[in-house]
Amino acid sequence: MGFKMTDKVTWVGKIDWELRSFHGPEYSTHRGSSYNSYLIRDEKTVLIDTVWEPFAEEFVENLKKEVDLEDIDYVIANHAEVDHSGALPLLLKEIPDVPVYCTANGARILKAHYHEDWNFVEVKTGDTLDIGETTLTFVEARMLHWPDSMFTYMSGENILFSNDAFGQHYASERMYNDLVDQAELYQEAIKYYANILTPFSALVTNKIKEVLSFELPLDMIATSHGIIWRDNPVQIVEKYLEWADNYQENQITLVYDTMWDATKRMAEGIAKGIQLEDEDVVVKLYNVAKTDKNDIVTELFKSKAILVGSSTVNKSIMSASAGLLDMIRGIGFKNKKAAAFGSYGWSGESVDLINEKLRNAKIEVVDEGLKTLWNPDEDAIAECVEYGREFVKKI
Ligand code: FEO
Repeated sequence: MGFKMTDKVTWVGKIDWELRSFHGPEYSTHRGSSYNSYLIRDEKTVLIDTVWEPFAEEFVENLKKEVDLEDIDYVIANHAEVDHSGALPLLLKEIPDVPVYCTANGARILKAHYHEDWNFVEVKTGDTLDIGETTLTFVEARMLHWPDSMFTYMSGENILFSNDAFGQHYASERMYNDLVDQAELYQEAIKYYANILTPFSALVTNKIKEVLSFELPLDMIATSHGIIWRDNPVQIVEKYLEWADNYQENQITLVYDTMWDATKRMAEGIAKGIQLEDEDVVVKLYNVAKTDKNDIVTELFKSKAILVGSSTVNKSIMSASAGLLDMIRGIGFKNKKAAAFGSYGWSGESVDLINEKLRNAKIEVVDEGLKTLWNPDEDAIAECVEYGREFVKKI
């Protein structure tokens, strides 16, 4: 069911409480998500984005309760990814001639997804669409986070339809930022930024500066996932500028993979040393095989330094830590320092391999790391504590 946001704008999306993973298994969604679609009724009627394909039928049926589909003058596809375009094929079967406004990349990607020759109208930054008392202005947001991504700004109502940007995978029936739990909201917002937008941080900063330079009045940021920012919407813009600027808190995070707990005991010893050396720093430990990978990435995003540990197995490192290190390389964290540790029985390659993977991820490795033979005894644990102390001095 839709709800009215203003006299002219109605939310017509889908709240997906059940969703537990997104982008296949790549992104965990502990708190569900929503696919936000917006219906604008001015002298012209406009639909902005749709929903993911499994909800297409429900979406079109609900939309028919809001508007006669034949009355829709324009469809705007801010982004071609299937979570927003998935209901287009069903919708456009009913209104095949309606113009679909999107970027040139958007048209190319939509054609590649659905193999349909819809009535595409390609737009660029600054192009406008007069729909009556209000005007829609398009702003390309290339690589935020796909080549086709676009924002649409509605004058008069002062709403920025930002698609993925400023979103969160967060299901709530209370669809505004001032009505939900702030800790939950910001946890989901930072997780979304850390996991999806970090690789594009330089572009985030430039795009926000560009949009701010237009000096547009802003009453709402209507994203395509999660809540709508209506109470001080600039707060999330300011957060994005902070997060995009090599963000870090006073936190050190240790992640480890362990076969028989020897590497885990090393992690605990190192963590103790860090805390003894610096009582103010927040130290967190995660067993990478037992912890959600996107939650770990979020903690690494917040950290000024990280330590990665793994036992040696088959002359290599354990699989969960290998997967995480590959994610780190892809995400491209900047301005973080790191070190490696691990227990071994005979060949002992893990620490060197972790160092290599960290360096490949362009993370500064502060020393050669710490290896412990078999299960650490008291002396070895004391060495771990001392290593933790020294690590603090090196970062
Ligand atoms: Fe929410 Fe990039 O799709």
